[in-house]
Amino acid sequence: MAKLIDGKKISQEIKDELKEKVASLKAEGKTGTLAVIQVGEDPASSVYVRNKKNACAYIGIESLAYELPENTTEEELLKLIDELNEKDEVKGILVQLPLPAHICEDKVIQAISPKKDVDGFHPQSVGAMTIGEKGFLSCTPAGIIQLLKRSNVDIEGKHCVVIGRSNIVGKPMALLMLRENATVTIAHSRTKNLPELCKQADILIVAIGKPRFIGAEYVKEGAVVIDVGIHRDENNKLCGDVKFEEVEPIASAITPVPGGVGPMTIAMLMSNCVQSIEED
Ligand code: GUN
Repeated sequence: MAKLIDGKKISQEIKDELKEKVASLKAEGKTGTLAVIQVGEDPASSVYVRNKKNACAYIGIESLAYELPENTTEEELLKLIDELNEKDEVKGILVQLPLPAHICEDKVIQAISPKKDVDGFHPQSVGAMTIGEKGFLSCTPAGIIQLLKRSNVDIEGKHCVVIGRSNIVGKPMALLMLRENATVTIAHSRTKNLPELCKQADILIVAIGKPRFIGAEYVKEGAVVIDVGIHRDENNKLCGDVKFEEVEPIASAITPVPGGVGPMTIAMLMSNCVQSIEED
């Protein structure tokens, strides 16, 4: 039986630590606002944006929500970002992705001041992370590091296989595990012999984006399994990229879906916002 890595509980601990920190920063006169921009009405994005605003309220920082119509032009969005870059009280700017097809995501990400890039998506933030300099870390990978550390999983010297190479999860995840002295392999859709490769992992991080894809044949006895996926199955039930019932008996520790990685992303976003207020 695997130990369940409880992201809900760990994210709550982090938010409670941040709440205390925000109160002491306030006592020093340091406050700040997170600006959250959503373009269009994608229902999943609306849920994420609401959760982010609620998390700000919980830890005691202000949030400013911009709900822009689907037909907002790239120019209008870039102008708003420029204005927010100039506002002193705004310490973090977050543009919820995906954006409508007529807006270039890269251009938008690069318009955000690296000083306010609490998502950690700006090339300057990514570069700083890559060479181990200070900067905002991408929230989901940073959250996974916290899950592992706070569950007392040893990372140093372990073989970590990351499945997925997205800019938001796979690539930064691999770099952060490397920073923790893991030996890291990045696997992806073109990787040959994926089950055999994954079976060598002490820590298997799955961000493949396919519901219930990873079964027992991918997992070594005693491995730690982190499931980044979140999907709705044919019965409208939430599930991850991992066949939980099949993998759980083999793993030594595993994250559930929901309640594993998901809540950590928002906790780390809050951590980046607090870091931004603190450093300003
Ligand atoms: N869409 C899905 N995940 C994220 C995230 O972490 N940040 C933003 N801005 N958009 C997302």
